[in-house]
Amino acid sequence: MSKFERSTRPSTAFVLRYGLAVLSVAAALSITQLLRTYFEPTPNSLFFCAIVVSSWIAGLGPGLLSGLLSVGVIDYYFLFPRYTLGVNPEDVPRLAVFLVSAASISWLSGGQRRAKESLRQARDELELKVQERTAELRQINEELRAEIAERKNAEGALLSSEAQLKQAQAVAHLGSYEVDALTGHTRWSDEVFRILGLDPASGSLSRQEFVERLVHPEDREYAMQGYDRVVHEGKLYDLEYRVIRPDGSVRFVQSMGEPIRTPDGGAVVRLVGALLDITERKQSEDSLARLNRTLQTLYQCNQALVHASDEYELLQTVCRILVEVGRVRMAWVGYRELDREKSIRPVAQAGYDDGYVENVKAIWADAERGHGPTGTAIRTGKPSWTQNIQTDSSIAPWRTEALKRGYGSNISLPLMSDSATFGALTLYDQQPNAFNERTVEQFTELADNLAYGVIALRTRAERSRAEHALREAQAELAHVTRVMTMGELAASIAHEINQPLAAVVTNANACLRWLTGPIPNLDEGRAAVARIARDGNRASDVIGRIRALVKKSATEQAHLDINEVIQEVLGLIQTEIRKNEVVLRRKLAPDLPRILGDRVQLQQVILNLMMNGIEAMSAVTDRSRDLLIRSCRYESDKVLIAVQDSGTGLETESLDHLFTAFFTTKPKGMGMGLAISRSIIEAHGGKLWASPNDGPGATFQFTLHVGSKEEEAR
Ligand SMILES: Nc1ncnc2c1ncn2[C@@H]1O[C@H](COP(=O)(O)OP(=O)(O)OP(=O)(O)O)[C@@H](O)[C@H]1O
Ligand SMILES: [Mg+2]
Repeated sequence: MSKFERSTRPSTAFVLRYGLAVLSVAAALSITQLLRTYFEPTPNSLFFCAIVVSSWIAGLGPGLLSGLLSVGVIDYYFLFPRYTLGVNPEDVPRLAVFLVSAASISWLSGGQRRAKESLRQARDELELKVQERTAELRQINEELRAEIAERKNAEGALLSSEAQLKQAQAVAHLGSYEVDALTGHTRWSDEVFRILGLDPASGSLSRQEFVERLVHPEDREYAMQGYDRVVHEGKLYDLEYRVIRPDGSVRFVQSMGEPIRTPDGGAVVRLVGALLDITERKQSEDSLARLNRTLQTLYQCNQALVHASDEYELLQTVCRILVEVGRVRMAWVGYRELDREKSIRPVAQAGYDDGYVENVKAIWADAERGHGPTGTAIRTGKPSWTQNIQTDSSIAPWRTEALKRGYGSNISLPLMSDSATFGALTLYDQQPNAFNERTVEQFTELADNLAYGVIALRTRAERSRAEHALREAQAELAHVTRVMTMGELAASIAHEINQPLAAVVTNANACLRWLTGPIPNLDEGRAAVARIARDGNRASDVIGRIRALVKKSATEQAHLDINEVIQEVLGLIQTEIRKNEVVLRRKLAPDLPRILGDRVQLQQVILNLMMNGIEAMSAVTDRSRDLLIRSCRYESDKVLIAVQDSGTGLETESLDHLFTAFFTTKPKGMGMGLAISRSIIEAHGGKLWASPNDGPGATFQFTLHVGSKEEEAR
């Protein structure tokens, strides 16, 4: 409100109120003037009305004013003398009464008005207060409503978070619990009941009952001791144990939590914790460990396969690895027998058996005793297994014995060669259902590798037997040809022996003469006897060499001086050389390392090559018949022996056939000399080859490995 408004409003109201008094009196005057013609004496009641109206509407002041004005007007207009303000004495009481009445009416009307005014004011105030109170109440109401809504929201959130918690517990297989340390009473969440396979409606068990009724017997002591320790020590805890649900299934649980002490930090009064179902984790840990073991087993078995040298040793090693590394309870290998009963012969076994394999007497025929895993695997060529020995009907004939030995399940894998089964590898595990599709696959691979290894070893054994037989045949042949060569050389050799024998006889005669004369010459006699002894030894040496060459003896490896071997051969063919007018030259390198070989066989090779050389030169008349025998070092670890002649030489096309058995160009030749020589040298780890000379003739040479120093020392 402006200052002006505030200063003007009361004066305006004042003017209006008093104006109303004047107007109402004026109105009463006007109407009474009109009524004067009809009424005598003139009524003045209308002035009372004006007074009432003024005092009623405008208050006591205007009411009194209108009363005064009315007295004046009545006196002026209606009392004699009219139109003067003078009053007759007899009218004074009337006017006084009028005036008093007017004052009373004004006072009453004003009072009534004031009362009405204060009533209105009181009502207004009341109304204001009511409004204020209502507003207050409304606000309180709204606040209350907001609070209720908030509370409802909180309740909703609580309910939903509880539901979420329940859901989370179910999803995580995590239950929560509380244990009263003093009474042993417990409070479990729904999930704890679910983990334990119990109905939440049945109520939670006391700690004691829980341990006795649900914890696995083997883990009871551990669980009890664990909880007792927690109560004593009051530290955070984390225990893992097994529980058995009422339906008999076993679950792994992890119980972890915190002990709560009395507020003053005294004794532990409660345990608040969580129970987690870790069965799946344990199972996956278990299967991971199992997988690891299987891989380790496969690796070690494969290692055994690579290094195996004996079939039965390999089977035994694989069974042992399966038991020690693969942790199967027992493993055995049976071979299929082709007898009338179609029996299975145990050939390897490892692990706890206690005579089981010997007594199992399984067969692979289509009969009751042939329907076990081993018989089936051999008969069908496919893996066969018993998931649970306790219940599976196929294992019936052996069930009691198998259970006695703690076998829970088994698997048998065929050992196959070229799609034919020759045996089976059978494994027994302590647990039922130990073999699943995956392990079957892995063990099948192992069995396949094992079968492959067995076949490879058999092939290797057969080959080495064949090689042995071949070596024997070759040795036999070599011997025969040696004897034949000796036969051919018989005349020359006889001559070789004859020479020292003749010398012996000559020296013996001379000795006789020196001793039987008149004066025995002892010195000459002694010298003659010494010559006899020398020549006798020479003859004996030749005979010894011939005997060695002719004798049939097993191969004998020794560290040989190859030059010595050459000299011994030369000692046999001196006569042949002379007879054929051959000029023999030797170029033998001194200090050659010893070579490892068979003396007689190497002599035979050198003899063959030298005889071939002499024979190749027999037709040569236009040049000297030169035969050179050389020995020298070759490469870093070999010795080379070469026989070079100046004979007919070699046709390029015949180079390919020289070493083939029965290839000969000689009328009386057998064609075996070079073939046998090459096989001997190759058996010594060396090489024999021929090459034409730059000039006339050919060279045949061979190499031999130097024996190692250590071997030589042995
Ligand atoms: N030094 C050589 N010079 C030329 N040809 C040779 C020589 N040595 C061997 N040959 C040829 O190689 C052939 C095979 O020789 P090998 O010693 O195997 O048999 P062979 O001498 O004929 O009969 P034998 O079985 O009695 O030794 C000979 O027939 C000959 O043709
Ligand atoms: Mg020959």
